[in-house]
Amino acid sequence: MLKGKKLAVIGCGKLGEALVAGLCKNSELQKNDITATVGRETSIERVSKKLGIAVGVDNKAAVKGKDIVLLAVKPQNMDRVLAELKDVLTKEQLIVSVAASVTTSFCEERLEEKAAVVRAMPNTPAVINVGMTGLCHGLHVSAEQRNMAEAIFKCVGETVFVDESLMDAVTALSASGPAYLYVVVESLAEAGVKLGIPREISTLLAAQTMHGASRMVLETKAHPALLKDTVTTPAGCTIDGLMELEEGKLRVTLIKAVVKAAERARELVNTQNKTSK
Ligand SMILES: NC(=O)c1ccc[n+]([C@@H]2O[C@H](COP(=O)([O-])OP(=O)(O)OC[C@H]3O[C@@H](n4cnc5c(N)ncnc54)[C@H](OP(=O)(O)O)[C@@H]3O)[C@@H](O)[C@H]2O)c1
Repeated sequence: MLKGKKLAVIGCGKLGEALVAGLCKNSELQKNDITATVGRETSIERVSKKLGIAVGVDNKAAVKGKDIVLLAVKPQNMDRVLAELKDVLTKEQLIVSVAASVTTSFCEERLEEKAAVVRAMPNTPAVINVGMTGLCHGLHVSAEQRNMAEAIFKCVGETVFVDESLMDAVTALSASGPAYLYVVVESLAEAGVKLGIPREISTLLAAQTMHGASRMVLETKAHPALLKDTVTTPAGCTIDGLMELEEGKLRVTLIKAVVKAAERARELVNTQNKTSK
């Protein structure tokens, strides 16, 4: 899908670097197909040495002649970067934005008429190629461009296209999600420590168990409740553990956490899109 394409990464920070590393490892793109920019001259050497690609600070020069332009600057820098690129970007170029809370219409309004804009929300496990990215597209994106955008994030994990109205929910579930699950792993590891297991072993037991359980859901495609039932022997110990979880309201707490985070994401979308207008 990406063979022969040229890519510019505008704002090659933590996420940009992870995506470039994933693309160099897992796609047909070669290092010389990718150009990146950073905000400060002092960042150039660090990024170019780390990734082995051309890095500069001239955004206009970087996007010229590129098939795909990946915008990976902070949300508060998007307005300025779009204004800078407005006159050099063409409607044939695919614009992919990973800026949290910045909508496709925000980008479209600031660019050339009929700009092809895809918005993506990856998560931090993308750094080790097990990310989850939710994507949505604006009004002028072709099927081929959608596939190209998806191919970028497939290099660092799984992808799914959703309607843009669901992007706050995606942000709250899969982008914030690793934080919730780290708390779960940490708590399970604490439990092991409480029961006398050395912390390092306890963390391994907890984290690998979460990894295995996730893979069971993904690979068997069975409903999680059915998988839970297979672990729960009548009158065994798991049912006692599950009863404690029910009493502690784990389910409703997790549901409320995601709903609350989605509300906050929606607030940020409104603030971001209003204050920058
Ligand atoms: N990190 C994640 O896991 C994650 C997940 C989902 C979405 N996102 C989104 O991804 C974007 C980047 O996040 P990040 O964590 O990678 O941030 P970051 O590490 O701070 O990277 C931002 C990059 O933008 C560069 N930059 C600043 N102003 C610029 C300009 N005018 N032109 C070109 N480059 C400029 C910075 O350069 P210097 O290094 O010189 O300052 C830096 O390299 C954000 O919009 C965020 O919402 C991130």
